[in-house]
Amino acid sequence: MFKIVCMLSGRGSNFKAILDNIKNGMLKAQIVCVVSDKQCLGLEIAKQNNIEAIFLDPKGLTRKEYAQRLIKTIEPYKPDLIVLAGFMRILDDSFVDAFEGKIVNIHPSLLPLFKGLNPQKQALESGVRISGATVHFVTNELDSGPIIIQAAVCVHSNDTPESLADRILKLEHKIYSIAIKLIIESKVAFIKTNSGYKAKFRDIIETENFIINPLI
Ligand code: GRF
Repeated sequence: MFKIVCMLSGRGSNFKAILDNIKNGMLKAQIVCVVSDKQCLGLEIAKQNNIEAIFLDPKGLTRKEYAQRLIKTIEPYKPDLIVLAGFMRILDDSFVDAFEGKIVNIHPSLLPLFKGLNPQKQALESGVRISGATVHFVTNELDSGPIIIQAAVCVHSNDTPESLADRILKLEHKIYSIAIKLIIESKVAFIKTNSGYKAKFRDIIETENFIINPLI
């Protein structure tokens, strides 16, 4: 069975959406444990579902020391994939290197735009008419690894960061599972090329869909 470790720091709605898609058979996988740097709702959801829920306190540890703790905790589970679902901590390079090509993240913007904190606020301030969410492989550079899937939403003229975040979150819950399914089915792979890291696709049906965000 394809083994997933989920890392999160908060309410865990993306984790829950993935878990639901495992339960309904869309994803042939098992979440073997959930790791968090905070005592949070996500850990509670894991416990309610009889999934190992591990709180790893970063207090007093350097980023490198914390990465070592994470590696030691996660390695015995031998995960096929580590899913970052709102893990609000920059990961040390040693962690990314230990699980190279096996870590994915979701970010609530159309990367490479609006990396880092408060991407919805950044989107509103920039005046873009379309924003969205991105699932990508994780590399050592923040929010910059090869993109697997993106989804777009319209930005409304009366949006607040919260209303835009809510609209994007609904799509996050769909695309994270689609990306994971592509990985499970080997339809996308993380590869190294001379010009850097890439996502390599196979057997993907590409359509000519397009999105226009008009001011009518
Ligand atoms: C999501 O918006 C995700 O894109 C970002 O953190 C948030 C986590 O939300 N990385 P949740 O805990 O999954 O509800």
